[in-house]
Amino acid sequence: MPGIGEFWIVTGYDEVLALLTDDRLRAEHQSDESTPAPAADTDNPVAHTLLAVDPPDHTRLRRLVTRAFRVRRIAALRPRIQQLTGELLDTITPAGEGDLVADLAVPLTIGMICELLGVPAVNRADFRRWSVAGVLPPAPPEILRLAEEAQKKLTGYFRDLIEQKRADPQDDLLSDLACAGSGDNALSDTELIGMAILLVIAGHDTTVNLVGTGLMTLLRRPDQLATLRADPSLLPAAVEELVRFCGPIGLGLARFAAGDIEFSGVRIRRGELVMASLAAANRDPARFDRPAVLNVARNELAHLGFGYGIHFCLGAALARLEATVAIGTVLQRIPDLALAKPAEQLRWRTTSLRGVAELPVTFAPQPRPQD
Ligand code: HEM
Repeated sequence: MPGIGEFWIVTGYDEVLALLTDDRLRAEHQSDESTPAPAADTDNPVAHTLLAVDPPDHTRLRRLVTRAFRVRRIAALRPRIQQLTGELLDTITPAGEGDLVADLAVPLTIGMICELLGVPAVNRADFRRWSVAGVLPPAPPEILRLAEEAQKKLTGYFRDLIEQKRADPQDDLLSDLACAGSGDNALSDTELIGMAILLVIAGHDTTVNLVGTGLMTLLRRPDQLATLRADPSLLPAAVEELVRFCGPIGLGLARFAAGDIEFSGVRIRRGELVMASLAAANRDPARFDRPAVLNVARNELAHLGFGYGIHFCLGAALARLEATVAIGTVLQRIPDLALAKPAEQLRWRTTSLRGVAELPVTFAPQPRPQD
């Protein structure tokens, strides 16, 4: 692949599952003699996030944030997610048109993760521009350049914000982490900044795609849309099916061989890159009945769209809840929702994640809500 070179790609459901639980395949870059780890990595907070490290560092970092993302704690956010979704839809319903990516998915998901972390509202628009910061090697060089620039901006931003939180702690996750004690709870400043960047990027960019691409996928399948409108209790199952069918992780999850190993009958050498293709695993006909068909009533939780094993998505409960509320509210409030241009002409993202970059829609204008 241009900019990445050669790598292995694992596509079967069982094989991806095996890969994600195999500790010979690591998240951290494993150098071999010919490709030493990039020296700059030691200063880059994004290279030290949960996603990019292995146990024991991974275990320590994950323990620090797990509590904040417990299912019950996330469930308590439902009224706030509902309120924000309602306010955002109020801004477009009187006009009878809008872009459900820019006007709903982006501000909803950024708003929620920033509220959790304690990022002031004034800075939130910047995060959208910087969202490419989550990308690490392996990736094409032009994307890595953009990512590095965004990483620098975000590092500076969070360095200042963390200082403020230490001086004047508030009731938010960043204050908790910034003031976490010593010993087992200790986080280096680089790790703390990395965690903040990871949460703010992973905490919205993926979900934007689930809401935007998910709604687009439903609009293109009127039978599935009608089934869902007729029985809104299917919403959680429909969201799960959308993660399986058109989830935002395109090419896959990167792992590196920690030694010369044999995996699934293939010899892989130390340091070689192995990609787990979640998209392919989620459409494996050996695992899913008619996998290329969207079925909102499928009710299949065993898809791999949120990963598997020790790196299983920390924010899955939040993503599920945001997508359920956003998609459910759009369908309930806008019965005549239609794409404003043919699906084939929609702009798609060009960096890292898979999804539509816009979702222009039209419908009959609705009276402005009373104050
Ligand atoms: C549709 C939305 C989302 C999808 C499809 C998704 C997908 C994933 C996947 C596949 C992984 C595993 C990565 C790996 O094994 O290398 C992951 C990890 C992670 N996700 Fe998500 N994610 C979503 C939303 C979120 C949200 C809302 C948050 C934060 C609030 C979040 C935070 C994280 C974090 C922190 C990790 C790293 C966990 C670890 O390495 O221990 N994600 N996500």
